[in-house]
Amino acid sequence: MEHLVQKPFPENFLWGAATAAYQVEGAIEEDGKGISVQDSKNFSNYFHDTTVTSDHYHRFREDIALMKTLGLKSYRFSIAWTRIYPDGETLNPAGVSFYNQLIDELIKNNIEPLVTLYHFDHPQSLQENFGGWYSEQMITHFLTFAVTCFHAFGDRVRWFMTICESNNVVLYPDLIGGVPAGIDVEVWRFQVSRVMALANARVIQSCRKLLPQAKIGPCIGYAIAYPATSAPQDVMAALNEDEFRTFYPLDLLCLGRQNPTVVNFFACRGLDIRLSPTELEEIKGANPDFIAFNYYQSDVAKACPDESEEAQPGFNQEGKKGGFVYPRFPGLYAGDSNPYLERNDWDWEIDPVGLRIACRKLFDRYQLPLMITENGLGARDTLANGEINDAYRIDYLQKHVEQMQLAISDGVPLLGYYPWSFIDLMSTSNGYNKRYGFVYVDREDSDIKTLTRYKKASFYWYQRLISSNGALL
Ligand code: BG6
Repeated sequence: MEHLVQKPFPENFLWGAATAAYQVEGAIEEDGKGISVQDSKNFSNYFHDTTVTSDHYHRFREDIALMKTLGLKSYRFSIAWTRIYPDGETLNPAGVSFYNQLIDELIKNNIEPLVTLYHFDHPQSLQENFGGWYSEQMITHFLTFAVTCFHAFGDRVRWFMTICESNNVVLYPDLIGGVPAGIDVEVWRFQVSRVMALANARVIQSCRKLLPQAKIGPCIGYAIAYPATSAPQDVMAALNEDEFRTFYPLDLLCLGRQNPTVVNFFACRGLDIRLSPTELEEIKGANPDFIAFNYYQSDVAKACPDESEEAQPGFNQEGKKGGFVYPRFPGLYAGDSNPYLERNDWDWEIDPVGLRIACRKLFDRYQLPLMITENGLGARDTLANGEINDAYRIDYLQKHVEQMQLAISDGVPLLGYYPWSFIDLMSTSNGYNKRYGFVYVDREDSDIKTLTRYKKASFYWYQRLISSNGALL
């Protein structure tokens, strides 16, 4: 449906861009920082070295000057827990001071900070001592860390996100989770969802008490699921994927209720995932102000009979089309490719219309304002004579922004848009082979090179878009 009258982007729309600490900062052992679970990860199949990444820790003033030139209204970054509490227990004032300087520099340049409290990088010591998010002890530690951030930064930060993509943490345990030895992965998944939901609720409640003016919400990774065909079994499979991957965690975080289909599915397999009434009450009492969601692609789901062999999703590590391993979850759904969509070299299917569908589905179900906190195209960029012509990225972003405007015209309250990423950073699953930024960083996986920053063609495109408040589409 085209709109006769398209609504403009709201005046105070947060045109932003995003990063996360372990992917961009480097300096992992400087000024008292402790080692995080991301710093200690080492994958044999792809680059994952957090030591230097894009050296933002040392170059944040230069990077913020670039943000100002770009015209960003807002910048989403995460606070490395291990700078504030290196071992999860002892406060490190030098870490607080770093983020104070970063926030001051943003404010000085009229850029509104959006702070992610947790982006996959808790202290390694908490993982070793009690298994990280598998243990309820994590709730107290996370709360202490969050309250320290509220006290230290809450006079200048108005927007907070609690936990980034709790649903993907449990979907990809090796990449961003961490299952303690000897624990069944399914049991771990539900324990982590429960602990994260309780931690999320307590952090929101503390925020309300300490910073009544602030806005806070959870963040989810949302790949909407299309049925592979109109066969009712495939339609059911798509519903299963949406409910298990996205609505189960969001219902819990936003409504304090557990999706009964999911509860029943696991009960039939001997796993009782019910939370106590007191826990659900506590979660219900901590409604978020908004839902942040990250959108890159859509999925296709087809029926997966009970007797099928299970397969976990397998990342395409080579960046050659066709390398992605589609998951199979017997009794629920199996993934498949979408013949109607183009894909990037890592098989992430490009689906701008899916973004509008995602906005509509989320608003319809939760009636909360939405924020798109990641969206972008991972690609190999080429630096030639100091320039990067990433026309493919402009095309991707432009088509997604058009769909955002249609979603706004549909009546969805969208607060802001934070493309991933402001600057090239270490991709979680593919290092520097796969870039996302508006700003190019001169380095490769195996060679740190000069780390010089270059503006890509997409930088100038986004600059024009922001200055026209989206009118130049
Ligand atoms: C998001 C994560 O899910 O996906 C980011 O929050 C990540 O940390 C992004 O970088 C893109 O994924 P990848 O694996 O291409 O870096």
